[in-house]
Amino acid sequence: MSSLDDLAADRNAAWTGAGLSRTLREFTGPQEPLARIDDRDLILFASSNYLGLATHPGVTAAARAALGTYGAGSGGSRLTTGTTDLHSGLERRLADFFGGGGHDDAVFLATGYQANLAVLQTIAGPDVTVYSDSLNHASIIDGCRLARAMVRVFPHGDLVALDRLLGECATPYSLVVSDGVFSMDGDLADLPGLVAVAERHGAWTMIDDAHGVGTLGATGRGSVEHHGARPDLLVGTASKALGGEGGFVVCSSTVGTLLRNQARGFVYSTAPSAATVAGVRAAVDVLDGTSDLVARLHANVRECAGRLDVRRQVSPIIPVPVGDEGRAVEMSRELMERGFFVPPIRWPTVARGAAILRVTVSAEHTPEQIRAFADALRELTARH
Ligand SMILES: Cc1ncc(COP(=O)(O)O)c(C=O)c1O
Repeated sequence: MSSLDDLAADRNAAWTGAGLSRTLREFTGPQEPLARIDDRDLILFASSNYLGLATHPGVTAAARAALGTYGAGSGGSRLTTGTTDLHSGLERRLADFFGGGGHDDAVFLATGYQANLAVLQTIAGPDVTVYSDSLNHASIIDGCRLARAMVRVFPHGDLVALDRLLGECATPYSLVVSDGVFSMDGDLADLPGLVAVAERHGAWTMIDDAHGVGTLGATGRGSVEHHGARPDLLVGTASKALGGEGGFVVCSSTVGTLLRNQARGFVYSTAPSAATVAGVRAAVDVLDGTSDLVARLHANVRECAGRLDVRRQVSPIIPVPVGDEGRAVEMSRELMERGFFVPPIRWPTVARGAAILRVTVSAEHTPEQIRAFADALRELTARH
């Protein structure tokens, strides 16, 4: 074995010894409530395809048509060969649907992860202090590191601490950044509160609404619609409720120009394919044209949360606290034996000893699927 393999083997053994080893689950079909996973038919309570748009006929037809017209790849970055009329059209559509209040531009990137990195790397620097919620998504944490800005982490949702930290700001500019819907706990940032505290100190706000887009608000416009407040920078993903791939930033056209010129994740990465872009565009059109999809999701979230005795649940992410990493793995395995797929989430995604089963609800789940799942989970929780 080479010394590189020795190093990898040592690290793998340490990871396994700590109960943190992961294996890939193989899907042989789409992200639907009844999914084929590792050669078994399982009811899926784990996907971010919250509205079922990944398999919506309008979405898949649009992607197929674009594939036929434009081919499989974009051939270059957005600034070279990678911008088609579909890319420009999608950005206008995203700005139109998710924008407002002077935010009339949207910049589309390959992933939400890339979008967070791109915004933070471009906006933050030595003259900006970034104030980041302690439970923010890894892509925000990585973006903060890349920005080479001073970063102050405030305790999760603690606006008093944020207010105090902002009062100590020693740079000309400051940026408050938070998930809109926290990706593991499913709770919501107090967006109006964050905006008010930030404004008091002349700070900008950035919200990563990856899990709010398509799931919050009566029309699925996300945290902005749910709370009636707007951050300076809104990041969304097409990879979750919109059923496709990609990340986007809704902002003013001046900020949009800055990102298209200087965001490294935009400039130095091949553009998403036309098929991806067409699928996302069609998903936004579906979302804009039907209110009952979002209403169905909200009804299913209420139904599932009610059956699991979870109060005040708004988002489709319902964490089931377990604690011990090994127990979470075992519970997930037992759920699989009962016909349900819910992954255990362990450190480093959540704190050590704070493992959860992360349940996600879809508009496509039937009442029977939700009832059967809740019964199985309650029975399992009582035994463990
Ligand atoms: C809160 C949050 N932000 C950003 C991302 C990254 O988005 P994407 O999967 O499109 O890269 C995710 C998902 O993984 C997320 O949960």
